[in-house]
Amino acid sequence: MTEQFHDQHLSADALDQIFREARSYNGWHDKDVSEDQIRAIYELAKMGPTSANMQPARLVWCRSQDAKDRLANHASEGNKDKVRTAPVCVIIGYDIDFHEQLPWLFPHADAKSWFEDDENGRKEGAARNSALQGAYLMVAARALGLDCGPMSGVDLDGVTKEFFADQPKVRADWICAIGYGDRTTIFERSPRPDFEKFNRID
Ligand SMILES: Cc1cc2nc3c(=O)[nH]c(=O)nc-3n(C[C@H](O)[C@H](O)[C@H](O)COP(=O)(O)O)c2cc1C
Repeated sequence: MTEQFHDQHLSADALDQIFREARSYNGWHDKDVSEDQIRAIYELAKMGPTSANMQPARLVWCRSQDAKDRLANHASEGNKDKVRTAPVCVIIGYDIDFHEQLPWLFPHADAKSWFEDDENGRKEGAARNSALQGAYLMVAARALGLDCGPMSGVDLDGVTKEFFADQPKVRADWICAIGYGDRTTIFERSPRPDFEKFNRID
């Protein structure tokens, strides 16, 4: 098989859409996000890498008004309306027992055994990799023309009990509203550090 290299940059417009002009939104236009769009976000995001392909994120996409209201009840005062009025708000949880799935997710090796007697290691891996999955999800949503509003200002124990009661080893970690962002609801872009500030090339 001939090796294929991706020697083509994404267009400047695509990079603007995904990174340079994308913002974290607090308010939304009254425009629905369909179940097909939710599935399309997931189909891209799931391709992002996780350690041993562990895929620890457990996602609840709150799309009905009832689900959004139940989630908003656990949000901080400043976040309640952002949750209630978003077309969709996804809960990013992680499964501390993700290793049970490794025999089919990572069939090349006995990866389940690496984690079996190490609950602390599993918590660390689940938190790290589910956060990455959430980041892939935001990039995917933006690539598909949607906007995001990530939030950690929620009572995580309350969200965990409300939405993951039947999965005792799953813990809610943060939430992300998704829709068509209303520019009038955000401040000017906050500064981003230049390369020299927090990077070095050794
Ligand atoms: C994990 C995470 C948690 C956040 N929590 C909140 C929150 O609880 N409430 C809120 O209004 N914004 C929240 N934000 C939004 C950030 O303040 C915002 O992404 C950051 O200031 C950059 O804004 P920009 O994307 O518009 O440049 C959160 C962002 C992330 C990634």
